[in-house]
Amino acid sequence: MPHLQSIIHPAGIQAQRISDLWWTMFWICAVVWVAVAVAALIAIRRGRQGADAAASQWTITRNVAIAGAVSLVALVALLFQSVVVGRALDTLRSPDALRIQVTGSQWWWDVQYDNPIPSLRVTTANEIHLPVGRPVVISLIATDVIHSLWIPNLQGKIDLVPGRLNELWLQADKAGVYRGQCSEYCGLQHAKMALVVVAEPPEQFERWLTANRAPAPAPATPEQQRGKEIVERGPCAMCHNITGTLAGGRTAPDLTHIASRSTLAAGSVPNVRAYLAGWIADPQSMKPGNRMPAPNLPAEQLQAVLAYLETLK
Ligand code: CUA
Repeated sequence: MPHLQSIIHPAGIQAQRISDLWWTMFWICAVVWVAVAVAALIAIRRGRQGADAAASQWTITRNVAIAGAVSLVALVALLFQSVVVGRALDTLRSPDALRIQVTGSQWWWDVQYDNPIPSLRVTTANEIHLPVGRPVVISLIATDVIHSLWIPNLQGKIDLVPGRLNELWLQADKAGVYRGQCSEYCGLQHAKMALVVVAEPPEQFERWLTANRAPAPAPATPEQQRGKEIVERGPCAMCHNITGTLAGGRTAPDLTHIASRSTLAAGSVPNVRAYLAGWIADPQSMKPGNRMPAPNLPAEQLQAVLAYLETLK
């Protein structure tokens, strides 16, 4: 499924307002540009004909005054619309909003769906699911450096700052799969800090949420069982969490339902077995500088781990 990332295909009310502002600016500036170009061409032509000497001082003053007044009106109009849109972007607030916390780290996104009952909270990574038509408030924080969340089809950018909680309100009005990315340079793999946003009908979203509340499914074959043991007892569990198992690390993406996600390494590659194998065998070749050391598993152990991870739907 292609992931759309475009400011001119708004899929929510906020992005629609930003898009309208952009087109107003585009057309006003286009008209000004054409007017200036035409005036310059006329001036060049008249200059060659020696006609300028005939223009009176009064004509020149009048033309400058008209150009100045038109520019002033255009700039004030743009400023006015810009302020109106800026204020409107913050008007979605609703007590019924879905609350999500997104934490940015070098170079991935931790995503938590809030719930007053702790056991009903859902943790995932690098993929956000949203119900269409419902306001969403995303609380944002960073653990290391400043990042910035940008989902162009849905909203403008907002920074994730260590030690400071920011909030972003948005609403998806059209179902679809959108691509978001980090838009503040945050180190070596800034370009590979993307995320997938899936906007879906509310019933479908609820099904997804319920499925993600469940602990990891139990292994069904001896190979999967062996893979689970390697994950639990090996280096994986130091950083990764898989709910329902002994793996309880919190410093790397949650893997409880890794197989249900569409990408690996924060939107870097599709989530298919070949890439997953390549990633675990040598994470530094796919995304140099990332925080995952190679676990150096023998081939047979790697196959067992892959077989297990693929069951984590
Ligand atoms: Cu995170 Cu750029």
